[in-house]
Amino acid sequence: MTLSAENVSWTAGGAPIVRDVTLALPEKGVLGLVGPNGSGKSSLLRLLAGLRRGTGGAVYVDGQPITRIRRAEIARRLAVVEQQATTEVALSAREVVALGRAPQRAAWSAWTERDEAAVASALERTGMMHRAAQQWSTLSGGERQRIQIARALAQEPRELLLDEPTNHLDIRHQLDLMRLLPRLGTRVVVALHDLNQAAAFCSEIAVMHEGRLIAQGAPAQVLNASLIGEVFAVDASVTCGPTGTRISFF
Ligand SMILES: Nc1ncnc2c1ncn2[C@@H]1O[C@H](COP(=O)(O)OP(=O)(O)O)[C@@H](O)[C@H]1O
Ligand SMILES: [Mg+2]
Repeated sequence: MTLSAENVSWTAGGAPIVRDVTLALPEKGVLGLVGPNGSGKSSLLRLLAGLRRGTGGAVYVDGQPITRIRRAEIARRLAVVEQQATTEVALSAREVVALGRAPQRAAWSAWTERDEAAVASALERTGMMHRAAQQWSTLSGGERQRIQIARALAQEPRELLLDEPTNHLDIRHQLDLMRLLPRLGTRVVVALHDLNQAAAFCSEIAVMHEGRLIAQGAPAQVLNASLIGEVFAVDASVTCGPTGTRISFF
C-alpha cells in the first residue's frame, strides 16, 4: 500500500469539509469514491494528492507524510486529473500528454526514448494515438478527458486520482471511459456520483457523507438500500446477481 490517509480533516471558512477520514488504498484495482454533491469527494482527493494541506491528521505516501515530500517527487508517484480542464492551449494532443513527463525529467535535459515511449504508451492505453497530432482545442469533451488521463499516465504514476472524469460526457463515452479504468495498469481512485457505474466498474467503493467516510468495501457489500437512502436521500432497491450489482431508484 502506498497511499493512505489517517484521520484526515480539512476545515474551510470555519466549516468542517472533510472529517476524520481514514482510508487505505486497495493493493490493486479501481476504488470508487462516491457520495452526493458537496459530500467532500473533491476535497478528499485534493488532500490525498497533496494539493491541499489538511487541518488535522495526515496523508502518507509509502509511510512518509506527504507534507514532507517534494512536489516533483509526489508527481512521480501519483497523478491527478481534476474536474474537466477548460484551458485553451495552442498545443497538440501529443504535446499535452508530453507535459506529463515534466516530473520525470531533469531540468533542461534532452527528450529521451524513455520519454517518447511513455507518451506513446499513454496515448495507446487511452485509445488516443489517432488524435495525437490534432490540436487540443479542437478535441471533443470525451477526447480531452482521455488526453488528460493520458497526460497523467505519462507521469508513470503508481496511483491515478480522477475527479468525476465522466462529467459532461454522453453515456457511450462515459461507459468507454469507465471500461478503460481497470485496464490502465495503475491503481485508480475515482470520484463518481453514478452509483451504478461505481458498482459496475470499481473493485471497491468508499462512501462519503457530509465529509465523513462512512463505508468502504466491495460494491455488493457496501451498496445497500438503507445506506443509499441515508446518504443520497432517495428510495432505492439493490439487486446483486451474476451480472453484478444493480441499483434502481424510485
Ligand atoms: N475552498 C473552500 N472554501 C469553503 N468551502 C469549500 C471550499 N471547497 C469546498 N468547499 C465546500 O465543501 C463542501 C464539499 O465540497 P467538495 O469537496 O467539492 O464536494 P464534492 O466533490 O463531493 O461535491 C461543499 O459544501 C463545498 O461548498
Ligand atoms: Mg467534486
